[in-house]
Amino acid sequence: MLEGKRVLLVIGGGIAAYKCLELIRLIKKQGGAVRVILTKAGSEFVTPLSLASLSGDKVYEDLFSLTDETAMGHIELSRSADLVVVAPATADLMAKAANGLANDLASTTLLATDKAVLMVPAMNVRMWQHPATQRNHRRLLEDGVCFVGPDDGAMACGEFGPGRMAEPAAVLAAIVHHFLPADRPLAGQHVLITSGPTHEPLDPVRYIANRSSGKQGHAIARAAAVAGARVTLISGPVTVPDPQGVEVVHVETARQMLDAVEQALPADVAIFCAAVADWRVVNAGQEKIKKTVDGVPPLALVENPDILATVSQKKNGRPGLVIGFAAETETVIEHAKAKLARKGCDWIIANDVSPATGIMGGDFNSVHLVRASGTGSSPGVSEIESWPRMDKDAVARALVAEIVKTLDREGWV
Ligand code: PMT
Repeated sequence: MLEGKRVLLVIGGGIAAYKCLELIRLIKKQGGAVRVILTKAGSEFVTPLSLASLSGDKVYEDLFSLTDETAMGHIELSRSADLVVVAPATADLMAKAANGLANDLASTTLLATDKAVLMVPAMNVRMWQHPATQRNHRRLLEDGVCFVGPDDGAMACGEFGPGRMAEPAAVLAAIVHHFLPADRPLAGQHVLITSGPTHEPLDPVRYIANRSSGKQGHAIARAAAVAGARVTLISGPVTVPDPQGVEVVHVETARQMLDAVEQALPADVAIFCAAVADWRVVNAGQEKIKKTVDGVPPLALVENPDILATVSQKKNGRPGLVIGFAAETETVIEHAKAKLARKGCDWIIANDVSPATGIMGGDFNSVHLVRASGTGSSPGVSEIESWPRMDKDAVARALVAEIVKTLDREGWV
């Protein structure tokens, strides 16, 4: 995915700098080249020797090194890459870049570059939340800098919250995704996505629902649109905003969602991320159900149509690639495999939605990609890939990159 791409990696001074070793390995595994600028503070955490060994290139450290400047001046260094990645992007590096300071090799390079910059922040939670850092973050976003992370979690300093550097796999996904829009690899493709919960009424004021927020499905819609696809997003009731550049159809119930999906077809790729209610109340009240002395009302459930199975098993007009999700709370992969076979889709993205994972409704996801052997409705399972925990945007970008790779390989793009 990164064949021929050159990444200039600026490593700041933070405990998370060790993650850059794995990041370099991942970039190189994808065919990319990495050149490293190591700040003085960064060199307290990782050694130039290990970075040079992994990158296979010289490590640049000093703005005033006569030999470095003669061999590769800082201006040339800043322009020689296709993408500049700053990781860990410390509060200091962000502040310098936001204010145009240039007093060492890293900051001078960031000011001199005409290439896209991706920052991967990592710092103490209070430093991240400080108004000055938040101001710098906003300013950098306005300047066109892209960000991945920071993640939430336990920090080396013993505190908890946002500030952890995103995992190398998530950074890699962002890098791969950065290179997708250049040639808009999904241009001309129609991608259909469902997202969010459905609400199944009990009466005009009450409903059965679930905890899906729409964050994952909406992130996939955003990532597919960035990759150039025409995206139709069919969303249940959510509070997250509609993604830009995407046609959004708002629905409430499973049956409305199925109608909207049918209306939106044909599609080249269909991704069913919505948490559709399996059942609805057959005898929903036309008026608000009253409490009576006779006890609780007798509510009867009936099965909702299965949208994923309906689309997967279409004889005519089946999308070329149909991807379902599996939300499980135990034996995740086994249940996902069974769902893949039962519903007849091509891939299942399985995730563990036990409350302890915080996935449903939260900002992060940890998924397993289960593929059927052969496109179509083969029940055999050829491959299971487990992805590390990432924020939902990173999962979306990785999924879109995977779709592009598959469509490309099969000659559909
Ligand atoms: O919305 P978030 O808060 O970001 O959380 C994301 C998520 C946890 C909801 C998402 O990652 C996820 O797992 N979505 C699938 C939820 C679900 O309903 O899974 P399921 O295992 O019950 O259903 C399997 C598949 O069949 C899903 O693709 C679902 O969309 C589809 N389905 C289910 C029932 C039905 N009647 N029609 C369907 O199409």
